[in-house]
Amino acid sequence: MEINVKNDAVVAIVGVTGAVGAEFIATMERRKFPVARLKPLASARSAGKTVEFRRHSVTIEALDETSFEGVDIALFSAGGGISRRFAPIAVKAGAVVIDNSSAFRMDPNVPLVIPEINARRIREHKGIIAVPNCSAITALVPLWPIHSRNRIKRVILSTYQAASGGGAAAMDELVQSTRASLSGQTYQPKVLPHPYAFNLFSHNTAIDPETGYNEEETKVIKETRKIFEDDRIAVGVTCVRVPVLRAHSEAITFECERPITEDQVRAILSEAPGVKIVDDRVRNYFPMPIDASGQDNVLVGRIRRDLSDASGHSISMFVAADQLLKGAALNAIQIAELLPEPAMAMS
Ligand SMILES: NC(=O)c1ccc[n+]([C@@H]2O[C@H](COP(=O)([O-])OP(=O)(O)OC[C@H]3O[C@@H](n4cnc5c(N)ncnc54)[C@H](OP(=O)(O)O)[C@@H]3O)[C@@H](O)[C@H]2O)c1
Repeated sequence: MEINVKNDAVVAIVGVTGAVGAEFIATMERRKFPVARLKPLASARSAGKTVEFRRHSVTIEALDETSFEGVDIALFSAGGGISRRFAPIAVKAGAVVIDNSSAFRMDPNVPLVIPEINARRIREHKGIIAVPNCSAITALVPLWPIHSRNRIKRVILSTYQAASGGGAAAMDELVQSTRASLSGQTYQPKVLPHPYAFNLFSHNTAIDPETGYNEEETKVIKETRKIFEDDRIAVGVTCVRVPVLRAHSEAITFECERPITEDQVRAILSEAPGVKIVDDRVRNYFPMPIDASGQDNVLVGRIRRDLSDASGHSISMFVAADQLLKGAALNAIQIAELLPEPAMAMS
């Protein structure tokens, strides 16, 4: 389907007041994304408030069925329910939807895109393009360049997920509960199911009673197979929420079809788009969420042979990435940058 994206697009942001919404604006400003007009949308609670975009105050409107008239690109980040209801309306109005929620990710008609891996899929869209889960993006950006040279048969990963993955309210809960704890007060969790300050807990998505896997873990497994276009890749995941304000980290071990050395992995990753190696054994300096925050790249370090596999097919590493950026807003804007120009603009 040919899309009608103008050189300078009218861009709607659904969920502009949220943690991801704020990063959409910052990322478009930083990357000088060509915007003719911004249409900030949120719930009725936020209508009438303003956001700053390119030194102008733009008034937030309440999302409704008429919000997408004249919109070229609609960036969605207001939860799966909102995407399910309003993305088809936006497409009908002529917009291309880039959706950060999980609503359409596994729909066979919707490309699930990490531009460093499968940008070519963008052209196949039928109005909606999905941004993968943030834990999946963090793992797959560095795993893809290895997989494409020496197929990865099996991955086992554990996440250390920041409050920012739960949105602005979860970040606030971490700050407030830490403050309360330090001043000896009790804090009743409001957003997350367990005490967050000086604690960690299994990811707060629903558990499948049959498999024992939570939804976040299941997303990583399914989305890895869809993005890599490899139904045979074996993926084991444990997702954990940690009391870090921003940026997810992951411990990853993978097994390749052919033998692989840590030097080969380092050489591949040193040239991989979207990856920065941070692997200083002398200084014991490796990827940390505090360093990944505000960065576009996935930081990769602790690259070492997995000593539990004597065959030399397995490598372990530790990664950190700002999931509000590469895990959400940046990945979406990268997709928008790759949308084809209209025939008119190309002639
Ligand atoms: N946080 C992440 O790292 C991350 C990463 C990848 C994907 N995502 C996805 O992005 C989405 C938003 O995440 P977030 O972290 O930015 O959440 P958030 O900080 O809680 O923000 C939610 C946004 O949705 C808006 N909203 C809520 N109800 C609405 C309604 N009925 N109509 C219109 N807008 C409504 C809110 O507007 P009001 O302020 O007016 O309520 C707010 O702008 C979710 O689908 C999430 O899964 C998040």
